[in-house]
Amino acid sequence: MTERCALITGGTSGLGEAMARRLHDAGHTVLVTHHAGSHNADHWLEDQAAQGYRFRVYEVDVADHEACQDLARQIEADGHEVDILINNAGITRDATFRKMDKGKWDDVLRTNLDSMFNMTKPFIDGMTSRGWGRVICISSVNGTKGQFGQTNYSAAKAGIQGFTKALAQEVARKGVTVNAISPGYIATSMVAAVDPEVLEKQIVSQIPMGRLGRPEEIAATAAFLCTEEAGYITGANIAVNGGLHMY
Ligand code: CAA
Repeated sequence: MTERCALITGGTSGLGEAMARRLHDAGHTVLVTHHAGSHNADHWLEDQAAQGYRFRVYEVDVADHEACQDLARQIEADGHEVDILINNAGITRDATFRKMDKGKWDDVLRTNLDSMFNMTKPFIDGMTSRGWGRVICISSVNGTKGQFGQTNYSAAKAGIQGFTKALAQEVARKGVTVNAISPGYIATSMVAAVDPEVLEKQIVSQIPMGRLGRPEEIAATAAFLCTEEAGYITGANIAVNGGLHMY
């Protein structure tokens, strides 16, 4: 296996952390980003190191275009060439459309969708010029099926699917694949923030497997997409949702 350098946004918790650990297990160098104030990155690094995982953490707000370009320059100055980019960082600001204000709309569109541009832009040329790359964009079941209370999030996650398919066509001949993963409801703090009664009665009851997914189940899918064997998969949107939505 060739050792690659992977960069995972929002990599210090939830799905991002699980993907970081899985790619580290696969022998890659793993860089992660986190957002200032989300939690203490030093403690997280120590905790991971105690379990045998060595990461490098960079602080960035993926909604901030200039900050992302600065981050890319810093990563290059640190001697890393990013071969694998996982656009994972995302937020929810759930509200029915009637109650949704412009702030909730903008926060979600900027963090979840503008971040695709902000983070992919500075790394894609390096991948195409070296003739190998993997871009994985974390969408959501709710980008495909829509979700009551998530007009902002569903719009952003659907946008990620379009972004993925368009970019996949542009870089296919350069050895770079671009794919989306659409998780269903996975046991992370994001899903834990949903009212437990709503989660149980309206959501888990609709999942054919009758349970939330595990972060490791998303991480395994991402790790596969990063292999050489997955080199013919591009522009795909892989559903990992326990059967909640089939397409
Ligand atoms: N379909 C139709 N009607 C619904 C409904 C549904 N799914 N859910 C609620 N309603 C009805 C209610 O019965 C209520 O009707 P009445 O006014 O006639 O009583 C009306 O709509 C208002 O609903 P709420 O009282 O629920 O509105 P609220 O403001 O209290 O709550 C909400 C809105 C916070 C968005 C809540 O509905 C909710 O949490 N929904 C779940 C959102 C969700 O799934 N988020 C996922 C987060 S995790 C994630 O996003 C990760 C991922 O990728 C999967």
